[in-house]
Amino acid sequence: MILRGRLKLVADMVPVCRTVCDVGTDHAYIPIYLIRQGICKTAIATDVNPGPIEKANINIRQYEMTDYIDTRIGDGLQPLKEQETEIIVIAGMGGQLICSILSEGIEKARNAKRLVIQPMGAVEDVRRWLYDNGFEITDEGLVMERNKIYNVISASWTGQQTNYDIIDLYVGRRLIEKNDPLLKTYIKRELNKIDTAINGLRKSRQDNRDALEKNINLRDEFIKLYNGL
Ligand SMILES: C[S@@+](CC[C@H](N)C(=O)[O-])C[C@H]1O[C@@H](n2cnc3c(N)ncnc32)[C@H](O)[C@@H]1O
Repeated sequence: MILRGRLKLVADMVPVCRTVCDVGTDHAYIPIYLIRQGICKTAIATDVNPGPIEKANINIRQYEMTDYIDTRIGDGLQPLKEQETEIIVIAGMGGQLICSILSEGIEKARNAKRLVIQPMGAVEDVRRWLYDNGFEITDEGLVMERNKIYNVISASWTGQQTNYDIIDLYVGRRLIEKNDPLLKTYIKRELNKIDTAINGLRKSRQDNRDALEKNINLRDEFIKLYNGL
């Protein structure tokens, strides 16, 4: 199995480990790939819906992985037992859903050595949740697939509070530190989104001064960052 783009970057962020759990696995491509590559010895592939689990089971059988991957139906981290996995992957879901999955299973998230998270939106909410709940963001990466840029975040629980600013939330400190090759393109695209939001807020008849101020401030910070790169 060959992974490309978004899924490949998710897999690349998983360290060598005994057990990985892929939450919301759908096709189970991530656990199948990780085991075939020798990165993980065993995997738990979970999904809240039976349809994706059926799909996962078909793929797992096709790749002769039934001895290595256990599939389970359930919501978020519920199907996992305490300390059953070293790595938790949550990919391809909205940022707010990811935050609620982590909140509901916070003990399991804390006990994992690493979380590998790939939100489809609201990435700033995920970073804020991680910082506010004592997780350290240890790495981040960007990947382009079909002209869309995706974020992948690696984090682990330290119990320490991290101070953060608006750029830490909306861009990501690690992406800046490592000067991710897609960072400038990402910032430009985010700036376009902010401009669209500002234009919409200016045209609206509602009182949205706070939102407008927030977006103008965000745009200024993005421009400062972009010019300094
Ligand atoms: C878009 S797919 C992503 C599949 C795969 N992780 C990927 O990144 O390509 C999202 C999957 O998450 C599952 N899902 C949604 N909410 C969930 C939850 N609360 N707990 C577990 N799985 C969930 C859906 O059933 C679906 O199969």
